[in-house]
Amino acid sequence: MNDLKITSTFTVYNNSSELSAQDNNLLLKAIEARNSAYAPYSNFCVGVSLLLEDDTIILGNNQENAAYPSGMCAERVAIWNAASQFPNLKIKKIFISAKAKNRIVDKPVSPCGSCRQVIAEYETKQIEKIEILFTGETGKIIKASSILDLLPLAFDNSFL
Ligand code: THU
Repeated sequence: MNDLKITSTFTVYNNSSELSAQDNNLLLKAIEARNSAYAPYSNFCVGVSLLLEDDTIILGNNQENAAYPSGMCAERVAIWNAASQFPNLKIKKIFISAKAKNRIVDKPVSPCGSCRQVIAEYETKQIEKIEILFTGETGKIIKASSILDLLPLAFDNSFL
């Protein structure tokens, strides 16, 4: 028997002024998407911008439903939007920004487990890493260079 040790390294930015111009633009787009989130039940608005390999930017936000499980997270709305419109273009980056209607979200909001699994599917499909940046309304921004840093030992098509 032996231990398996898995480590991940992330880049942590103190605020948006430390981002590159391209990443800052993606953040602004994620905020724009966040402002159109449909979140009347949780009051928690999430916006996502995706950068495709040809520099197209795709947006997505969370879409809730009175039948709660029928709602969808912003990340999957954005990823499936991109995958359905531009199935042959690789996704370079995903930027996630979250804001609550009733309090300040001051810590980075990372993607939920189901969204991590979906992002992993497209990273496998395109055989190229997807950078994931995430933040709240204020505060730090975290960057992962691959979804596998957020989802180690991921289930993928190699098991099928
Ligand atoms: N939400 C997202 O859009 N992305 C996540 O990664 C976490 C949660 C949404 C789902 C729901 O509309 C609200 O945030 C509260 O969970």
